[in-house]
Amino acid sequence: MIKSVRKAVFPVGGMGTRFLPVTKAMPKEMLPVVDKPLIQYAVEEAQLAGIEEFIFVTGRGKTAIEDHFDHSIELELAMTARGKENEASIGRPMFCPGKVAYTRQQEPLGLGHAVWCARELVGDEPFAILLADDLLMADIPCLKQMISSYEETGGNVVAVMDIPPNHTDRYGIINPGCEKNRLVEVRGLVEKPSPEDAPSTLSVVGRYILLPDIFKHLDRQNVGAGGEVQLTDSMEKMIGKDPFHGLRFIGKRFDCGDKIGFQEANIAFAMEREDLRDPLLKILARYSE
Ligand code: G1P
Repeated sequence: MIKSVRKAVFPVGGMGTRFLPVTKAMPKEMLPVVDKPLIQYAVEEAQLAGIEEFIFVTGRGKTAIEDHFDHSIELELAMTARGKENEASIGRPMFCPGKVAYTRQQEPLGLGHAVWCARELVGDEPFAILLADDLLMADIPCLKQMISSYEETGGNVVAVMDIPPNHTDRYGIINPGCEKNRLVEVRGLVEKPSPEDAPSTLSVVGRYILLPDIFKHLDRQNVGAGGEVQLTDSMEKMIGKDPFHGLRFIGKRFDCGDKIGFQEANIAFAMEREDLRDPLLKILARYSE
């Protein structure tokens, strides 16, 4: 029987050097897209997908994330007194007590290492991983689409999308096999290959459903591309044992680890807002003259 996906891991320990100086004292996951931090979009996506337990792998200087999801009693009381129920509700915690855990990655040794830090909290069950840098806009949340696929196929499922050939060295790239109903068989995986060495242009987006077997491979802590413990390398070792698919999810992806991707995300999400769309269009028209 296929076990359900109840837990999600959010690796949020990275230093965010690509966004210095803003990330010197502020977690990159707290960067706002319109008026909401990146990490909240990822958490809401997981909640909409039915995730019940939330595990954050944090690091030094990341306490703003814990505070953000916690109860702000001052905010709640002050807004309630002013009759502002919407703002008051923002002061309330986003998780039920005992359903959220924060653990620290003491050194930023790579994504594989960050996920490994969550091994005891995840235990022996399939789990999701969401990278807040990848902001996804979709009618059906991407992780929900993936869970539906996982319920049919079992095994490991990653979100995938085609990227321009000269961007292969930014992502994990799949060696694709057969494809049916947007599900691509994963025959190989390589982290950030140069365009000449890339097996395809099908990249891994920061959404994963993995079997707990991944921890056996991560235990070895082998160092890969960029001198880091890569999640991709351990995922590669799982190919052939259980089903492994890439899902071409329906929706848009904004790479908010990149300055242009981040700016585009702000425009795209603002355009979806009735109160912001028209004034923003006017401003953009001025800049495109
Ligand atoms: C990580 C993964 C990579 C994946 C990417 C998605 O890279 O290592 O395989 O394609 O996330 O955003 P990073 O963005 O941490 O360099």
